[in-house]
Order: sequence, then structure tokens, then C-alpha cells
Amino acid sequence: MSEIPEINELDALQTRALEELKMVSDEAALQAWRVAHLGRNAPLMQVFSRLGQLPKELRPQVGQRANQVKQALEAALEERAAALRAEALHRALESERLDVTLPGRRPEQGRLHPTTRTLRRIVRIFAEMGFQVYRSREVESDAYNFELLNMPAHHPARDLWDTFYTTIPGVLLRTHTSPGQIHVMRERAPEPVRVILPGMCYRYEQISARSEIQFNQVEVLAVGRNITFSDLKGTLNTFARRLFGEQARTRLRPSYFPFTEPSAEMDVECFVCGGKGCTVCKGSGWLEILGCGMVHPTVLQNGGYDPQVFSGFAAGMGLERITMLLHRIEDIRYFWANDVRFLNQF
Ligand code: DAH
Repeated sequence: MSEIPEINELDALQTRALEELKMVSDEAALQAWRVAHLGRNAPLMQVFSRLGQLPKELRPQVGQRANQVKQALEAALEERAAALRAEALHRALESERLDVTLPGRRPEQGRLHPTTRTLRRIVRIFAEMGFQVYRSREVESDAYNFELLNMPAHHPARDLWDTFYTTIPGVLLRTHTSPGQIHVMRERAPEPVRVILPGMCYRYEQISARSEIQFNQVEVLAVGRNITFSDLKGTLNTFARRLFGEQARTRLRPSYFPFTEPSAEMDVECFVCGGKGCTVCKGSGWLEILGCGMVHPTVLQNGGYDPQVFSGFAAGMGLERITMLLHRIEDIRYFWANDVRFLNQF
């Protein structure tokens, strides 16, 4: 303790200010502290303004001490401010920390529909045998869908296809891709033709596990000189082996279609049971995969080819049906259900 009360007052003032500074924990409190202890109305500043009223001999001592206190408080303020800044920076670094070594989050990727995947395989197999892809319309005329394919009006074979008709007479949604045969022949005649025609078809049917009102077919057509049934067999056997595996056995069963003569259906040996008979092949050991035949002379003629000179073979298959066989899908309705749990599997 000093005998000079002003000195004691300054000491107490410094102690209290430094004590309070320890409690300061943010920028706002720091500013308040500065105003309280170093501001114009702070007790310390009043000591300075009262210096002149002190006895002359005390002035240097008190003045010097007041300056020391002021410097001490200013230094403490600077130190605290720096500490607060460092703390704030540290907090920001902690809370905004990015771990760049964490594995990234993969965006969900879309994928091709199973029908599209099958179509691409089929297109590739036929492309390797020299077949082009020909796209044909989905809205057809009665003439192309039926008549020119050797099914005149009232022909009983029309019962094979339950048709969606439009309100325009003679305009309908194609029930199969076969009308594309006429389009491509009329465009190419008398040049040889080797094409496949994929696309959507429509049938006015009860929707069930086995049939949809909307589905895809792939039509196959080859027209030229000296095309024989052997070409049909060779081409379709090659196709079946490339799609179902080299070991796949096939057989042709006689059948009937108005636009082919002779007509057949091709079966592939059941790849689930190896021909022994199971639920997939319904005990027969065989799975039907397509209809086919030699293009009927009337159809060749309607396409612009002289049946005395030209011949051809054709085939038609259901894309969803083949996809179901390849992946053992048991219900055709999955193809249009848009259920990602189904689609994600391919
Ligand atoms: N168009 C027939 C259908 O939808 C399938 C078909 C059979 C197409 C024999 C052909 C063929 O080209 O030759 O059932």
C-alpha cells in the first residue's frame, strides 16, 4: 500500500479491470469492457483529468502510475482480443471442417430398361449377319396391318389379333411389326432386303401375367433371289445360339400364319432344366421363342417383288417374352410397372 490514496485507487482500479477482463468471452463484451475501463468516462481517465488539482509534488508519481495502468490495460485488451480471434478461428475450423478423404456420395445412376438391353443384343447379333434396323410406324392402316399381309377383311385369321381401332376408319394401332415388311419391301424393291424391324405393338387384350396391351416385337425379313428355308433355319439357329448360348438346341414346329407359307414356330431347349421338363417350360422341355416362315407369294407381290423370281423368309418375336425367358421374369406386367426394385436388377 502507498500513502498516496490516488496511487492506491489506481492499483485497485487495475486489479478490478484485469479481473473483469478474464470474464470477457466475446467481441461485444470486450468492447463494453474497453468503454468501461479505457473510455472517456472511465475512472482511470478521470484520474488523468484530476491530475491538475493534485499537490504539485504528487503529480509526477500519480501521473506516471496512471500511465502504467493505462498501458497495462491496453496491453491486456490487445492480448484478450487476440485470444478471442484465435478461439473464433479455431471454432470455425472445427465446425466447418471438410474431410476430403471421405468417399464421395455417388449420384443415383439411371440404367437401360431390360427390354432395351435385350433389343440391343438382338440388334447386334443380326447386324453381324448383315441385317439393318428399319423403323416402321406404330399407327397403321388396316391395309398394311392385315390386307397386304394376306388377310382380307373378314378373314378369320384376323381373330388372332384383338385390335385397337381409332375413330378414323381404317386406321389402327399395329398389332404386330409385320406391316413393316410391306413398307420396307415397297421402299427397296427390286433390291434385296435384309432387315430387322423392332417396335411397339398394341393389342386389345385382358392384361395378365402373360399378356400386356402394349409390348415390343422384333420382325426379321430377308428377301432376294434363291432364299430358301435353309437360310431361314441357318439364320434363326445362329441367332438363337448367340442369344441363349452355343449349347442351345432348337427345333421348328409347323404352324400357321397367313403371311408365310410354310410357317413354323421355333423353340429353344429349356435352359432352366436342360430339356428335362420344369415349371418354366411347363414340363415340355422346350420354350417357344418366335414365329417364322417363307414369305407368302401374295405378300411378296404386295411388296413389289415378283414371286417367280424372288423369295424370302420372315420371323417375328416378342421382346418382353424373350427377356422374361432370359432373366426368368414371371410376370410381363413388371415391364411397365416402373418399379425401381425391378429395374435396378438389370
Ligand atoms: N406377326 C406375328 C405375330 O404377331 C409373328 C410372326 C410370325 C411374324 C411369323 C413373322 C412370321 O414375320 O413370319 O404373332
